[in-house]
Amino acid sequence: MRVAVIGAGKIGQAIAEGLIKAGYSVTATRRRTREIKHLERLGVAVTKDNKKASSEADLIIISVKPKDVRSILREIRGEVKGKVVISVAAAITIDHMKEVCPEALFVRVMPNITVIVQESLMAYCTDRELTPEVKDMVKKVLEALGRPVEVEEPQMDAVTALNGCAPAYLSVILEALTYAGLEVGLSKELALLSAAQAMVGTGKLILEKGKSPHEVRDMVTTPGGVTIEGLLELERAPIRYTIMRAVKKATLKSRRISETIERGTE
Ligand SMILES: NC(=O)c1ccc[n+]([C@@H]2O[C@H](COP(=O)([O-])OP(=O)(O)OC[C@H]3O[C@@H](n4cnc5c(N)ncnc54)[C@H](OP(=O)(O)O)[C@@H]3O)[C@@H](O)[C@H]2O)c1
Repeated sequence: MRVAVIGAGKIGQAIAEGLIKAGYSVTATRRRTREIKHLERLGVAVTKDNKKASSEADLIIISVKPKDVRSILREIRGEVKGKVVISVAAAITIDHMKEVCPEALFVRVMPNITVIVQESLMAYCTDRELTPEVKDMVKKVLEALGRPVEVEEPQMDAVTALNGCAPAYLSVILEALTYAGLEVGLSKELALLSAAQAMVGTGKLILEKGKSPHEVRDMVTTPGGVTIEGLLELERAPIRYTIMRAVKKATLKSRRISETIERGTE
């Protein structure tokens, strides 16, 4: 199966690399093709020609910025009739895309930047017209890139704010832990390594061993010990409240962007 990745920027390049590794034939496009010459060494065909890439592909993945999705769809609409088009753009609804290309079948995916290492949750929702066989094909493609989970489209703004943005939130925590390490005399390298490895390991305890976050916390915390001393200090700041507010605000922002784009095309 040949896949065209339209807009090989940060996310698009990661998708192209993940799919070529998994054995798909891949064409990647962008206007400044010199930026993605390295993909050719992996076996990805590189071109500026979105139309040709789409006409030769069985599956099209759009990875341009949300503001550019509509013009890309106008450009390739003659080439995608009856084909599946996956968009990873935030805030662009399936109805919005179908308005431009009524004869294509759409899937909306919200990955995050960890798709570069094939560790992203790939939250997706689909056009009602997709048959079970086509849905299976889409899931298989997403499995090559991370962990697919189907959601309802109205959940997409929340998924964007949580899954799409989580690497940024977690990086703030990693940065704080790194500075904390410096403060208590560790080297920056050791502090960052320790914090990042602990984040990976904690994720694995939850995903692979079925632990809940409070179980992990209890496993680390002994009476009168070191961890409870640290946790006591953490209780002074409304950390949970702040993170909950951040995700809520980001969800509302995603919804507002979506509404602005819809209004702009009325
Ligand atoms: N970054 C994230 O963490 C993240 C997470 C989840 C979802 N997303 C979504 O993923 C999409 C891509 O995000 P990104 O961060 O990868 O952005 P990006 O790095 O800016 O990539 C977008 C790419 O589109 C290309 N492009 C623009 N116009 C084009 C055209 N007419 N034909 C072909 N290519 C064109 C640009 O390259 P040229 O200028 O060379 O053409 C650019 O490399 C966005 O819609 C975003 O909402 C991003």
